[in-house]
Amino acid sequence: MRSLAVLLSLSSVALASWTKNLNYRSPSEHHPGMGISLHKVNKRNDPSTAFTPSQLNFTHGVASGDPYSDSVILWTRVAPISLNGSNVDSNSTVSGYVPLYNHGPKQVSTAPVCVQFKVAKTSDFAEVESSGTAYTSSDIDYTVKVEASNLTAFTRYYYQFNVCGSNNTSVLGRTKTTPAKNDYTAEVGLAVYSCSNFPFGFFNAFGNPVRKDSVDYVLHLGDYIYEYAGNGDYGYGYSINRVPTPERVIFTLLDYRERLATYRTDLDLLASHQNYPWIAVWDDHEVADNTYRDGEADLNNTEASFVKDGGVAVDQRKMNAVRAYFEWMPIRQVEMDDNLRIWRSFSIGSLFDLVMLDTRQYDRSITDLYWNTEYVHEISNDAGRSMMGSRQENWFYSQLSDSAARGAAWRVIGSQTVFSRVNESVAYGNVDPLDYDAWDGYQANRNRTLNHLYQNNIGNNIVLSGDSHASWVSDLVWLDHANYSSSSGAGSVGVEFAGSAVSSPCPYGQNISLNSANNYSSWLVGANSELQWNDLYYRGYFELRISYDEVNASFFGMPTIINRNPYEISLANFTVKSGANALQRPVAGGVVESGALKSGKVVQTNATNSTDTGTWFVSLDNEEDL
Ligand SMILES: *[C@@H]1O[C@H](CO)[C@@H](O)[C@H](O)[C@H]1NC(C)=O
Ligand SMILES: *[C@@H]1O[C@H](CO)[C@@H](O)[C@H](O)[C@H]1NC(C)=O
Ligand SMILES: *[C@@H]1O[C@H](CO)[C@@H](O)[C@H](O)[C@H]1NC(C)=O
Ligand SMILES: *[C@@H]1O[C@H](CO)[C@@H](O)[C@H](O)[C@H]1NC(C)=O
Ligand SMILES: *[C@@H]1O[C@H](CO)[C@@H](O)[C@H](O)[C@H]1NC(C)=O
Ligand SMILES: *[C@@H]1O[C@H](CO)[C@@H](O)[C@H](O)[C@H]1NC(C)=O
Ligand SMILES: *[C@@H]1O[C@H](CO)[C@@H](O)[C@H](O)[C@H]1NC(C)=O
Ligand SMILES: *[C@@H]1O[C@H](CO)[C@@H](O)[C@H](O)[C@H]1NC(C)=O
Ligand SMILES: *[C@@H]1O[C@H](CO)[C@@H](O)[C@H](O)[C@H]1NC(C)=O
Ligand SMILES: *[C@@H]1O[C@H](CO)[C@@H](O)[C@H](O)[C@H]1NC(C)=O
Ligand SMILES: *[C@@H]1O[C@H](CO)[C@@H](O)[C@H](O)[C@H]1NC(C)=O
Ligand SMILES: *[C@@H]1O[C@H](CO)[C@@H](O)[C@H](O)[C@H]1NC(C)=O
Repeated sequence: MRSLAVLLSLSSVALASWTKNLNYRSPSEHHPGMGISLHKVNKRNDPSTAFTPSQLNFTHGVASGDPYSDSVILWTRVAPISLNGSNVDSNSTVSGYVPLYNHGPKQVSTAPVCVQFKVAKTSDFAEVESSGTAYTSSDIDYTVKVEASNLTAFTRYYYQFNVCGSNNTSVLGRTKTTPAKNDYTAEVGLAVYSCSNFPFGFFNAFGNPVRKDSVDYVLHLGDYIYEYAGNGDYGYGYSINRVPTPERVIFTLLDYRERLATYRTDLDLLASHQNYPWIAVWDDHEVADNTYRDGEADLNNTEASFVKDGGVAVDQRKMNAVRAYFEWMPIRQVEMDDNLRIWRSFSIGSLFDLVMLDTRQYDRSITDLYWNTEYVHEISNDAGRSMMGSRQENWFYSQLSDSAARGAAWRVIGSQTVFSRVNESVAYGNVDPLDYDAWDGYQANRNRTLNHLYQNNIGNNIVLSGDSHASWVSDLVWLDHANYSSSSGAGSVGVEFAGSAVSSPCPYGQNISLNSANNYSSWLVGANSELQWNDLYYRGYFELRISYDEVNASFFGMPTIINRNPYEISLANFTVKSGANALQRPVAGGVVESGALKSGKVVQTNATNSTDTGTWFVSLDNEEDL
């Protein structure tokens, strides 16, 4: 069989161009029988049925991502405009181009489309430094994902796609390579996001760093899309013209593609992708709510729950979601034979190593599925539980050691969920007071991480996390092991910056008032010794500026997301000095705009009324993790 597979491998002269589109190569170019059949696609490459350039359109802008010092991933989508115009969903309330996906049993396979790309330091492309040709087709949702190589380190580049032999072009994209592994780079800026839920509001947070031109790279820690019914089950939906299609819970490959296509109509999201290289990882909702290795919240092991899950087996649903994610996101597949793997790392000069984890889909032990909270609480301290599986854990700890050994100034860790222990008994009650879907449900895994840092004297660690829809800034502490001082930060091994959601609602109630949100924050900051600042009220994001001497974090809140606007409020600023392994005191300079600060005050200079007009309120008991 082995030799047969080799014989069947594509030997056409066009091979180079076909494989340029990375989306054809998954799961592996070494296993031609497992990915898309390029033979079949090639057979359809018949000039008599080929689309003319004017029948084609770049439907969803451009994107770039996973920058290295000499290459970057470029993305676009170029699809045929049906002659009768009906491949745009006219039922959609969303303004923008939502392609009509034929969810029927019979897929129409069309002739492949040829595109070219070029990359240069100037937007007039006077000197093209990287270029190439690639194909796409219905088999991969007309997405194009190529690696532009031959680039110079830490340099801004412009790129553009065009239909082969035609001046029908995509919009102009801008991107940036990273500093080479041991290069000195004075400062690098990141914008950090999580939880962008389309029917809940406009993605203004994505647009602001573009408008300010304030960062080098964008990080998304997951929940880039949500799998829920689009019809405003949750959120404002129709009232703000943001009902993502299909208007039901998504299960199939086409469902996930269509959902991604809807999300990618938000103009601020498009602007961010067009202007910044992204480094993204998924959380649960790229697949389903509270996913773990083998399931998700809606699966109760009851017949009803399996029928509810669209009749699609859970592993099939996961593969559908994963495939659509790889098609639509400008990310690299770092290990072609392991197509569930998105955990990967980036060396950003001698300044820092960025370790992006997958604590969710890859190999997570059973999580809180709402009906088993008590059980997961009971086992939350079991040594055998892992959020990422032993293979990834071992890799993670060696990444931390290798980074320290090579002398990188900082280690920045992208985690889906909040790392630090957070007693939320104010919301959950005293029986199960923690969020067992976060690291609190996997204490041994957290202890192994902390133990590795403490035992090996690895300092200057910055954990970034999302998922919670609120802002949490803490010293990074192994509670009960380290002799931690909440007032000085002594005993800590770093800092955690956990950011709020782009648009997903406040976990303490979508329509919560500023005052009650801040009252909850005061309780939380009082009950958790290492938690120095918390804000529940604002949707938003944070920017991180990393230099050799210090890391600065600036948190921004969106005054309103029920329409598209460029406003934001500076909520709090933090500094971490190199070698201090804790937040600089007085934390946040002693003053924040909102929430609660452990030692300091809240001065509302820019307070706004509730930005929310809906009436839906999240119940605190067994709330769904939106
Ligand atoms: C590309 O083709 C589409 C569809 O005909 C058309 O709308 C668009 O204007 C063309 N763009 C250019 C730059 O020719
Ligand atoms: C081409 O795509 C753009 C961007 O999504 C969209 O606004 C436009 O309507 C599309 N044109 C056609 C003819 O479908
Ligand atoms: C319009 O195009 C769709 C495919 O996009 C096709 O299914 C449908 O039959 C076409 N209708 C007509 C009247 O040509
Ligand atoms: C649009 O909505 C109508 C009425 O609900 C429905 O019959 C039709 O199939 C929908 N069209 C598409 C393309 O979803
Ligand atoms: C690589 O880039 C240089 C300019 O930096 C250019 O002269 C050369 O042609 C490029 N090589 C390839 C293979 O694209
Ligand atoms: C470029 O597009 C214009 C129309 O938009 C057309 O008149 C011109 O011939 C095209 N040029 C080439 C080289 O295709
Ligand atoms: C799963 O179990 C919970 C708790 O018993 C219940 O509320 C929910 O309806 C069940 N879901 C399904 C699909 O059976
Ligand atoms: C959580 O905080 C409450 C109030 O301070 C306290 O009574 C409770 O023991 C704490 N629970 C845990 C697990 O720390
Ligand atoms: C992990 O550390 C905590 C203290 O932070 C301790 O209570 C717990 O027992 C430890 N669990 C394991 C499995 O090591
Ligand atoms: C954060 O720092 C910026 C820049 O120095 C400043 O404009 C802003 O007011 C600060 N925000 C807070 C809440 O102190
Ligand atoms: C925040 O408050 C300052 C001082 O009152 C004001 O100048 C600024 O315009 C306000 N910003 C926003 C976004 O409201
Ligand atoms: C909120 O709105 C009320 C009524 O319009 C107004 O009196 C109050 O000053 C507003 N509060 C803030 C913080 O803007």
